[in-house]
Amino acid sequence: MPDPPIRIYLSPPDVGPAERELLLDAFDSNWVAPLGPHVDAFEREMADYLGVPHAVALSSGTAALHLALLQAGVGPGDRVLCSTLTFAASANPIRYLGAHPVFVDAEVAAWNLDVALVREALTDAAATGERIAAVVAVDLYGRCCDFAALEPLCAEYGVPLIEDAAEALGARLGGRAAGTFGLAGVLSFNGNKIITTGGGGMLVTEDGAAARQARHLATQARDPAPHYQHSEIGYNYRLSNLLAAVGRGQLQGLEDKVARRRAIQDGYQSALGDLPGVQFLGAEVVEGDGDRSNGWLTCLTIDAQAAGATREEVRRHLRSLGIEARPVWKPMHLQPVFADAPVYGGAVAARVFEHGLCLPTGSALTDVEQDEICGEIRAVLHG
Ligand SMILES: Cc1ncc(COP(=O)(O)O)c(C=O)c1O
Repeated sequence: MPDPPIRIYLSPPDVGPAERELLLDAFDSNWVAPLGPHVDAFEREMADYLGVPHAVALSSGTAALHLALLQAGVGPGDRVLCSTLTFAASANPIRYLGAHPVFVDAEVAAWNLDVALVREALTDAAATGERIAAVVAVDLYGRCCDFAALEPLCAEYGVPLIEDAAEALGARLGGRAAGTFGLAGVLSFNGNKIITTGGGGMLVTEDGAAARQARHLATQARDPAPHYQHSEIGYNYRLSNLLAAVGRGQLQGLEDKVARRRAIQDGYQSALGDLPGVQFLGAEVVEGDGDRSNGWLTCLTIDAQAAGATREEVRRHLRSLGIEARPVWKPMHLQPVFADAPVYGGAVAARVFEHGLCLPTGSALTDVEQDEICGEIRAVLHG
């Protein structure tokens, strides 16, 4: 039997009347363009929320990452360290620039960059004289990397650090907002993210000149002249004013969405945490003062021997009921397109991919839906 249509999505958009009103305001003002008052206001409001001077609104998180790598000076032939356990968008822009990703495994507790392996890679490169042009650190599933260790490590080796916080808006580490670590931070407002504009992203930076240059490159690198003149290659990467209006409404609700997603994660953990062979991502992480995951997706691993069923059996059962659950990201070092890229470690990410499952965590998920999901998972694992 074919699966029924999905009725409970993994992480669907959660939009309301504030977004609608702002969108209509943008429409009625005729600022239907990749610039306008809502773009400026969205940038200002996001920068204020994050506590940084500059945020540049762009058409996607991938575009933001591309511009961040340019800001870091990444060019053809360079090597860039990158988390292996992530979505392909973290690594693709490295290739856009003719550079080569070198993947680094995850640590076991939060599935973020293993700092000891980053050090090993930087030390190896220093020994052979190979240039590492940047480190792309991904805040996976809404929790910040260990930036208390990564920032000084990258500074020690003089390598720019880029924070891919696409999944982590609203998270914090030591009181600092996700997206504000390193040389530049990257946010995504894709449809599945904690806030969405339907598609969009931001580049976050402390550096005013870098923000100006990013805006310049993102608008086809037009020189200041009455005619169309260009001295460098640019991109069409700015966010539409219509979408920025939606983003402003979403940002107003961000704290509620973080609270809801964290509550959903707690709910899964208290309903299923006792099952043998089931281990929740982050269950071992102690959140210190000023630390907070944004709860973007609740993930767990299933040890089939102890649990009585495989990850795929659980996923397929849920899917047969119209419930979308997804395997954890397939690591980049296992992707055909990056088959020739070097990797430091890789076994942790491979194991997590084999056994890991992401559960529906949208901020509009109801308690009744969550109870149903938990009941079905219990039924498979002990049915
Ligand atoms: C870790 C990570 N990096 C980058 C991106 C790219 O963002 P976008 O889809 O806005 O281009 C995403 C999500 O899509 C992501 O999950």
